[in-house]
Amino acid sequence: MSTTEHDRLLIIDFGSQVTQLIARRLRELHVYCEIHPFNAVDDAFLHAFAPKAVILSGGPASVFADGAPKPPALVFDLGVPVLGICYGQQVMMHMLGGKVERGHGTAEFGRAFVTPAADPLDLLAGWFDAATPPAREQVWMSHGDHVSQIAPGFAVYGTSPNAPFAITADPARRFYAVQFHPEVHHSPKGPKLFENFVKIAGFKGDWTMGAYREEAIARIRAQVGDGKVICALSGGVDSSVAAVLIHEAIGEQLTCVYVDHGLMRKNESQEVVSMFREHYNLPLIHADESDLFLGRLEGVSDPETKRKIIGGLFIEVFEKHAKAIGGADFLAQGTLYPDVIESVSFSGGPSVTIKSHHNVGGLPERMNMQLVEPLRELFKDEVRALGVELGLPPSFIGRHPFPGPGLAIRCPGEITREKLDILREADAVYIDQIRKHGLYDEIWQAFVAILPVRTVGVMGDGRTYDFACALRAVTSVDGMTADYYPFTHEFLGETATRIINEIPGINRVTYDITSKPPGTIEWE
Ligand code: XMP
Repeated sequence: MSTTEHDRLLIIDFGSQVTQLIARRLRELHVYCEIHPFNAVDDAFLHAFAPKAVILSGGPASVFADGAPKPPALVFDLGVPVLGICYGQQVMMHMLGGKVERGHGTAEFGRAFVTPAADPLDLLAGWFDAATPPAREQVWMSHGDHVSQIAPGFAVYGTSPNAPFAITADPARRFYAVQFHPEVHHSPKGPKLFENFVKIAGFKGDWTMGAYREEAIARIRAQVGDGKVICALSGGVDSSVAAVLIHEAIGEQLTCVYVDHGLMRKNESQEVVSMFREHYNLPLIHADESDLFLGRLEGVSDPETKRKIIGGLFIEVFEKHAKAIGGADFLAQGTLYPDVIESVSFSGGPSVTIKSHHNVGGLPERMNMQLVEPLRELFKDEVRALGVELGLPPSFIGRHPFPGPGLAIRCPGEITREKLDILREADAVYIDQIRKHGLYDEIWQAFVAILPVRTVGVMGDGRTYDFACALRAVTSVDGMTADYYPFTHEFLGETATRIINEIPGINRVTYDITSKPPGTIEWE
């Protein structure tokens, strides 16, 4: 069965910052959905996509603006349930005969409480059931304009102090429109609303990782035929899951190249190579190019220059090894769904931007190969679930992210082998501490950075003059923003003592309490 044989839900994107969260909530319900920008959705698209339900996202526009974004009117003639969220509600009312007004004094941003109207609504099953009256439900509002008159056929099912039409619906046509954002965490019962919506639409919830695995394998076989595929394996979760999946599909037609730039963590290269070679029996070239990378990085301390040198060498080395095996027809990449979602641009008309993959960018054009990207439809946590489904060890799947340029960007200033060795040891002790205290899975990413400064200390009766290091640990959802992790003083004290006692070369430990923004997670 291919994804086209699953029931499909279409999310029409009007540019909200949180549209991806709608897809997340639906995927959690095992519903297959795709996000498409409003300006890519026309009648022909709708007929081809054949959605079983449609969701209209929020967005920053006003229905009063010239050229205000709209879905095709056909959306309302497909006979499928439609849910409008925030701007989606306004555009729905506007198109179906209701009225929207400018938000003078009625704008609402942040937490609000919705209370029910008299009649029950299928979409709200399981809502408003608090034991202590008054029944009300917390939701998250973020709107300037608001609906002032609902469209014919609609009725009100929930109100908030500033949104008399917080929840409206025409149950006969299965049209639903809400002013708030059920997709965000601050609407705690939002998931229930989506659950009810997909139930109303008749989704079977058959989008499982087991099904995905079978379909992805069939698609890879169909795409590749008897061609040769090459994959840059970094040891990270995405490329590892992609490699194992492709290997399961086409076996020996796949060759992986692990470019070891000498900037990996302690024992990492051996672990990755032995896991894939021995456990998965996957054809893997271990390209130990640490002399080349570290040689070219000698004397370089500018962060961007470091990144450029590493990126350029990576491509060079990968190409060299690809040639050595006689070339390949396809390049496998672990591109994820968030990387391929087209974002809507309001200022520049229907232009779209697609992020390019950072680690292997430039390779496909240079090497004239077609791409195999079996994770293009998945979010990060779905990739992890697929990895578990494929039998990758959960400890491997749950590892913190590690950047392509490796320890180079955790060693501000000049990179030397001595500093890298000290850094690897200190990092290992720090991570060991975090694991021992059971904190590893609470933290998005933790690492040590070795600082380009030596400081004076006293150990025993002697003077020391060694490096200072910084511990970093952050919580984050997607790496775009982050908070520093609030370790206890006991933990920090114990860890500092261990690092200084166990790692020659470090005599001072600091804890980095910068959030992102204004800082970044990595030091360079
Ligand atoms: P920053 O430092 O930008 O990092 O706050 C955000 C997340 O991205 C990772 N990162 C990278 N990952 N190649 C990668 O594959 C890179 O060049 C790169 N730079 C940063 C970083 O570790 C964090 O998870």
